[in-house]
Formats: sequence, structure tokens, C-alpha cells
Amino acid sequence: MRFLFFLWGLSLISVGSFSTVRPLCHDDESFALLQFKQTFTINQPPSYAPANSKISSWLTHNSDCCMWDGVQCDENTGYVTSLDLSSSYLYGSINSSSSLFQLVHLQWLNLANNNFNHSRVPLGVRQLSKLTYLNLSNSAFSGQIPSEILQLSKLVSLDIGLNSLSLHKHGLKSITDKLMNLEELVLSEVEILSTIPSNLANLSSLTSIDLSDCRLHGEFPIGIFQLPNLKSLNVSFNSNLTGHVPEFNRSSPLEVLGLAFTSFSGMLPDSIGNLKSLFSLDVGGCNFSGPIPSTFDNLTELTYLRLSSNNFNLGTLSWVGKHTKLTHLYLKSTNLFGFISFSLRNLTQLKTVHLGYNHLTGPIPSWLANLTQLNILWLQANNLYGPIPMSISNLKNLQILDLFLNQLSGTVKFDLFLELKSLFYLQLSGNDLSLHINPNTNTTLQKFKVLGLGSCHLNDFPDFLRNQDQLEVLLLDNNTIHGQITKWIANVSKDSLVILDLSANFLTGFDQTLGTLPWTGLKKLDLFDNKFQVSLPIPPPSIISYDISNNSLHGEISQMICNLSSLSYLDLSYNNLSGFLPQCLRNLRNLSVFNLQHNNFHGRIPQIFLEGCKLRMISLNHNGFQGPLPSSLANCTMLEILDLGNNHIIDFFPSWLDILPELRILILQSNGFHGILTPNANFGFPKLHVIDLSNNNFSGKLPSEYFQIWKSMKSFDAGGLTYMKANGQVQISINGWFFILYYPMTFTIKGIRTEYEKIQNIFVAIDLSSNRFEGEIPKIVGNLRVLHTLNLSKNILTGSIPLSLVNLTNLESLDLSQNMLSGEIPMQLVDLTFLAVLNVSHNHLTGPIPEGKQFSTFENSSFDGNEGLCGSPLSKKCAGSKDLTPPPSIFVEDQGSESPFEFDWKPVMMGYGCGFIVGVFVGKIMIKRKYDWFRKTFAVGHPT
Ligand SMILES: *[C@@H]1O[C@H](CO)[C@@H](O)[C@H](O)[C@H]1NC(C)=O
Ligand SMILES: *[C@@H]1O[C@H](CO)[C@@H](O)[C@H](O)[C@H]1NC(C)=O
Ligand SMILES: *[C@@H]1O[C@H](CO)[C@@H](O)[C@H](O)[C@H]1NC(C)=O
Ligand SMILES: *[C@@H]1O[C@H](CO)[C@@H](O)[C@H](O)[C@H]1NC(C)=O
Ligand SMILES: *[C@@H]1O[C@H](CO)[C@@H](O)[C@H](O)[C@H]1NC(C)=O
Repeated sequence: MRFLFFLWGLSLISVGSFSTVRPLCHDDESFALLQFKQTFTINQPPSYAPANSKISSWLTHNSDCCMWDGVQCDENTGYVTSLDLSSSYLYGSINSSSSLFQLVHLQWLNLANNNFNHSRVPLGVRQLSKLTYLNLSNSAFSGQIPSEILQLSKLVSLDIGLNSLSLHKHGLKSITDKLMNLEELVLSEVEILSTIPSNLANLSSLTSIDLSDCRLHGEFPIGIFQLPNLKSLNVSFNSNLTGHVPEFNRSSPLEVLGLAFTSFSGMLPDSIGNLKSLFSLDVGGCNFSGPIPSTFDNLTELTYLRLSSNNFNLGTLSWVGKHTKLTHLYLKSTNLFGFISFSLRNLTQLKTVHLGYNHLTGPIPSWLANLTQLNILWLQANNLYGPIPMSISNLKNLQILDLFLNQLSGTVKFDLFLELKSLFYLQLSGNDLSLHINPNTNTTLQKFKVLGLGSCHLNDFPDFLRNQDQLEVLLLDNNTIHGQITKWIANVSKDSLVILDLSANFLTGFDQTLGTLPWTGLKKLDLFDNKFQVSLPIPPPSIISYDISNNSLHGEISQMICNLSSLSYLDLSYNNLSGFLPQCLRNLRNLSVFNLQHNNFHGRIPQIFLEGCKLRMISLNHNGFQGPLPSSLANCTMLEILDLGNNHIIDFFPSWLDILPELRILILQSNGFHGILTPNANFGFPKLHVIDLSNNNFSGKLPSEYFQIWKSMKSFDAGGLTYMKANGQVQISINGWFFILYYPMTFTIKGIRTEYEKIQNIFVAIDLSSNRFEGEIPKIVGNLRVLHTLNLSKNILTGSIPLSLVNLTNLESLDLSQNMLSGEIPMQLVDLTFLAVLNVSHNHLTGPIPEGKQFSTFENSSFDGNEGLCGSPLSKKCAGSKDLTPPPSIFVEDQGSESPFEFDWKPVMMGYGCGFIVGVFVGKIMIKRKYDWFRKTFAVGHPT
């Protein structure tokens, strides 16, 4: 349902004056029509639609066909000139020999909204050379659009959109070359795959252009905006189409402008205020920036406005008060701040409002309830505080209310929402509300589809859920629900539930008599951060994402898990599961994230990674796995993270890892890996940016060949700052429910071993410490210019500290301690202004310690155990040192939000998309603890 606005096409209304002597319809034409009719069956119309197909009134060939429904004839000649069979439930094929093409006097042909069962557009259409109007839209045509259409040179209106059609390479240009009289051109969803020819701007009679979702690319010809008669322009959903919006003058007749989900950029010009007839403006999901022009005031005819998800400047909502005709207002993620503006109160026609993902603050105004037409209200992910106003119960038409992730508080009675009889989507999670549910609440008549009652201070499963048999999403996370999941709970919406989140409660297990879990269509199940003390519960085979991490599960993994063939995300980390991994895990062919870290598994990692492996993350850290590694891991060519740290794997460095083109993070730390590191040809991890081989038995020289080819350690990804994540989407009836799963990682940074629950792609680190590497530190290490952390400590390295280290200008932590390094510390290292941790202790370094800048912040322990070092901070003075005052310290503060890590945080964010991909985040939110941080980051990163 992406097309909210319709083109105000020519609609044929028979208003012709009644002529007394009109010839009857010609027999051959009436025969042709009847023959045409016979090639189709008439589908049963849907219950909500008018029951009549026009064609069913066509009965005998004796009657005058000019009188039939949908047929019109020329008053003088009696020839059929117009045929309108739109929405007639026709089903069947149509080809060039169809008797339809005998109606050569046709000027008007409308076959829209039927089902021609993948027919090609018939070449016979060229026989209808008098056509001025041709509409074949949404009628299940497929294949290439034939060039015969170009012979219809009289065409004024051509609509062939919403089929599975494509247009060959120069197709669009030939249309604009040949069909010079076009006023209306609709090619939506036709696969065009080209740029837009600039001569489209020469067709000065054009009033309406719809090229939405045509996979167009290149720069949009600006002249098209200036077509003197253009009322409607829609090029939405061409993500590779670039362009900018020009100045408009007051004579522009534009009424509809759709640029949504393109790559249009730049500012919206002030002169947009000149478009006094504009009633629909959709620029959602583009790259527009700058302010929302104050001249928006002048667009008083607007009924539909979407500015969502651009890069507009911070601004307020105050400009909105004049748009009193608005019915749909989408301002998701437009950098709004301040209170919900009182001017919104003027917009009494509003049906849908999206103000989510902004910085709005203050209470939810009680006058909002005066907007009584409201069906849909999105306010999620703002800073709204205070109670939910009682007046909200006046919004009798409300169907969707989303208040997720604000700072609302106070007690709210669930009965309040039961007064909203149409409400089927209620999302209160992520606030600090105390939801009071009357135990006698009778919701038999009110069926919810989406119910978010996370962090609502619930101590029990709400009893009214017993009557809810249509729920698709149920979120009860972050409450204080204790005990077992009993039988009745497992029966809640047994057949409809798709997403269930019970995370962060005190649940201990399932009623033993249940066997497998009963929800037959469940796709996402979150049970993490509970007290489950049972063996691993097995979700139904429909499951896609299953997270039961951070419980006390014990015992072995049941082989039954291998039946979950749709499973893509599996997180069993932080439990006490034990035993061998079952060989049958190889059946999980869709697995993308496989997280078993911090359990007690042992034995070899089985050969479960088959050809076509889709795994992107494997974490087996902190188990008792023994080596060697399964070579089948090489099948996982999409692997981004491999974490096998803290096991007992004994193997050579797996050089086949080199050929995993996507590998970004490799952690083999604290195992029994040994041997020499040499790259396998020149592949060598083009994307690697974290490698931790510490605490193994590697020997030989440091791998300078690798240092040479680790491209992604030399410069940052052009893509800018993102978190490493897996995106997921689960379909529910209203639309998709998006979620983002961040990869966690354990790493030592600045000397402290820490678990990071979210990794930025710009974090670059090498840890080769505690091995038996020998020889010199190769100069080439200075090429890895974006390194944050370099740890080569506890090896047997000799030689001096290479001067090239001064090139590592992002370095925050450098540990070379406990080696056999000699020579002086290069003075130039004082220029590493980000360096917060330096350790060169226990080497054979000599000479003066560099002074000033960062070096004045390091303590004795950084330099201990080097007989020959002298100078501050050591007490040993250097011979012949002059007492110079060191330059002032420019200690760089920890970068706060720009630090590559966010600590102690394991978010799973989910979004809900409805129609226009409006989103909601739900999930693993430690709302109270990490609330502020969460607010900051997700506002940046979420797709439209
Ligand atoms: C946009 O361009 C990219 C890169 O050329 C291509 O992979 C993608 O399919 C294009 N998208 C559309 C909608 O045409
Ligand atoms: C806005 O409307 C006012 C009054 O009609 C007019 O004076 C002004 O020029 C308009 N501004 C723009 C940018 O169209
Ligand atoms: C509300 O609408 C009236 C009439 O259209 C207008 O005069 C007034 O300025 C509007 N209020 C705000 C706050 O924009
Ligand atoms: C909202 O409606 C109520 C009752 O219709 C009215 O008394 C009140 O003044 C309205 N509030 C505003 C801010 O318009
Ligand atoms: C709940 O309401 C329905 C419909 O009004 C009624 O049939 C049913 O008996 C009620 N249930 C209870 C437990 O009161």
C-alpha cells in the first residue's frame, strides 16, 4: 500500500446529450465484444467490493451494444469509441488475435484492475491507432512493453503501471520521442533501469508523470519540474535517482510531488511556498538537509505531508498550524525538538500523525484528544515525560497508539485503553509506567494485534490475555514477572503470535507438561535475562530468532533444535549448557548468528558448516572446545566475526581463514594455536579490523606480510561510523517488524578486558601478546594508520621501537612490555596525542624518556624494568639533562560518545514498519541503566 495518493486521472463520465437519431452499434463490433467477453471468466469480487462486473450485462448480440455497460459509441457513426472494463474481475489471457483489436475506432480503452494472468501486452494494440487513452494498469501483465505501443501516436494518456512489465534500454527515451501528445504518463513499477531522458522535459502538455519504483538512476532532469502544465510528479522509490529541488515560481500548477526514497539531496528552497496548489508532498527517506523552509506556512492546501527521515536541521513544529486540511502528517526522524506544538491543535482533520524518533519533550498535551479524527498516533522514541493524559480516551477512532521509549511515568489504568474500541496496536514499552490492570477487566470484545507492555511494573501475566487470541506481537519484557510460564500463558494467541518478548523478568521455566512450545507461527522469541534453570526449551519450527542468553540453562543441547530449519539468529550465551555440539546442527542452513559463548561445551567443534553457509557471526568464546578446527568453516564466506577465544583448541593458524572476504573480527585468544603466521597468497582479510591472537603459542617473526595487506587497518571504511550488526525482519499482518541485532565482542582495551556488546566498525586493534614471536617489530606496522590498540607484549621481540609508530595517530593504547626491546624510545612518540595507555616496561630500553604532551601523564609502571631508561617519571635523572620545563600537557579526554565502544550494553532493537516503513524499536533495552546512551545512538542510525 505504498501509493497513498492517486492520480486524478481522466474519469469517464457519460454526460453526452441524448441524440435522437443515433445509429445502432455495428453487428461485427457487437460480435467482437461478445467474443472478447467469452475469453474470460469473471472472478468472484471480494466481499467489500461492488458485486457487478460490467461485462456481465453484455447479453445478446441482438441488443444495441452501445447501450452496454462500459461501452460508448460515436453518435454519428455508431462505432465503438470507448471501452471501460476497469475493475471488472476479468480473469484470463489476452493476445494479439483477441477480437478486441477489431474495434479499430476505439479512442478510449481502460482494462485496469483485472487479472490477465501474466499475458504480454498484445502487439495487436497497434491496430487501435486512434487511441488517445490507454489504461492497462494493475492487471497482471508481464514481460517487455512492446515497441508497438509507440505507434499509438495520438495517445494522450498512457498508464501501464503496477504490472510486472519492463522497458528495454532506450525505452523511456523512445516513448518521449514518439508520444508527443502525452498528458499523462504512468509507468510505476515498470522496470526501466535507465536514467530519465532530458527530453521528457520537452513534452509540454504533460500534466502527470508517475515513474515511481522504476529502478531509475542518474540525475533527475531539472527541467521536468518546470513543465508548464505539470500537476503531478511522482518518482518515489527510485533509490539511485539523484537530484535536487529547484526554485518554483508562483505560476507552477504542481499539486502532487513525490520524491520519497530517492537520493534527492540539498535544501528545500524557500520558493516551495509558491506551490499554492500543492496538496500532497512526499519527500520521506531522501537526503535533504538544511532547515524546513518557513515558507511551508503557505502550503495551506496540503492534505498529505511526509518529510520523514531526512537530515533536516533541528527545528520545532511551530510552522504546522496553518495546514488545517492535513490528514496525514509524517515527521518521523526530522530532528524536531521542543514541546509538541500547540499549533498542531489547529489540524483537526488529522488521521495519521508520525512524530516518532525526534527530540520532542514535555508532557503529552491533553488537547491532543481534540484531534478526534486520529486513527494513528506515533510518538515513540522522543523525550516525552509525565503521565498519559486521561483525555486520550476521547480518541474514539484510534487504532494505533505508540508511545514506546519515552520517559512517561505515573500510574495508568489499562481500562483507559479499553474505551478505544478500535485500538488494536498499543505500545507502552520503554517508559516507566505503572500499568494498573483491573483483574475483572473483560476484553472479550477487544482484540489486540500488537501489545507492548514492557517495563510496566507488572508482577504477573495479565489475566485479560486469556481472551486475546489474535495477538501477533506481545512484549512483556523488563517487568518483574516471576515463576513458570504456565499452560494458559502458552495458549495465549497460540495460532497468531509471531513475536514474543519475555526478556528481563524472573521466569524460571515452562510448565513441564508442555513439551515443545505451542505457538505455531512464532518467529521471534526473547527469553534472555531470566532465571530459566531447565534444559534448553525448543521453540516451534517457525522460529527465526531465538535468544535465551543469560539464564541458567543446563544439560546438553537437544537434537530437536536441529529441526528449526528457519532459525537465523541463535543466542544461547551465558548459560551452563554442556556436552558436545550435535552434528545435526548442520541442518540449520539459514543460521546467520550463532552465539554460544560462556557455556561449558566441550569436544571438537563438529563439521557443521556446509557449502552455502550463511553464518555471519560465530562466537564460541569461553567454552571447553578442543582442537583442531573444523576445516568446513572455510565454507562460511559471509563470516564477519569469528570468536573462538578461551577454549582449548590446538591447531596451526588456519590459513584458509584468509579467504573469508568479509571477516572483520578474528579472536582466537587463549587457546593452543601455534606455528608461524604466513598469509595465504594475497587475499589476507581485506576487511579485518580486529585481530586478537593473544595467549597462544605462535612463534616466528611478526607477520609483516599481513601488516602489508590488512587494508582496512590503513584507512577507515568510507561508509562512516556504523555498528556491526545483523538486520532482521519478521512479517506481521500489518507489515514488517524490523530488528537490529548488534554483535558483541570481548577485547582488551586500555589494559582492561571488557565485554563490549556493540562494536563500531571504526575500531581497529591488534593483540598478539603472550606468544613467542621473535625478531624485530617491522617498520611496516606504521602503515596501519587507523589502529586504536596495538599489543605486542610478552613475546621475545628484539631490536628497537620503530620510529614509524609515530604514524599511528589514532593510537590510544600501545603495549610493548615484557619483550627484549633495546635502544631509545623515539622522541617523536610524544606526538601521539590520543595515546592514553603506554607500556614499555620490562625491556632493555635505554636513554631518556620523551617528555611532554601525553608522556607527562604516564606513570612509573609504564617504564619499569628497563635498567637504562632515565628521566621523568622515573627517579633516575639522565646524565647531562638540562632542567627544561616540559611543554604543557595536552591530555586528550576520553572521547565520550565518540569512543568506539558502548559499555555493558546488549541491545536488540526492533522496529515496526507500517505502510511507509514507519518504525518502532523494541527489545533488549536496559532502559534504566543505559537509557541516555541508547537514545543518542539509535536516533542516528536507524533506517527510514
Ligand atoms: C542501485 O545501485 C546499486 C549499485 O549499482 C545496485 O546494486 C542496486 O540494485 C540499485 N538499486 C536500484 C533500486 O536500482
Ligand atoms: C506566502 O503567502 C503570502 C500571502 O499570500 C505572500 O505574501 C508570500 O509572498 C508567500 N510566500 C511565498 C514564499 O510564497
Ligand atoms: C490556526 O488556524 C487559524 C485559521 O486558519 C490561523 O489564523 C491561526 O494562525 C492558526 N494557529 C496557529 C497556531 O497557527
Ligand atoms: C478541546 O475540546 C474540549 C471539548 O470539546 C474544549 O472544551 C477544549 O477547549 C478544547 N481544547 C482546546 C485546546 O481546543
Ligand atoms: C465479557 O464480555 C462478554 C461480552 O460482553 C460477555 O459475553 C462475557 O460473559 C463477559 N465475560 C465475563 C467473564 O464477564
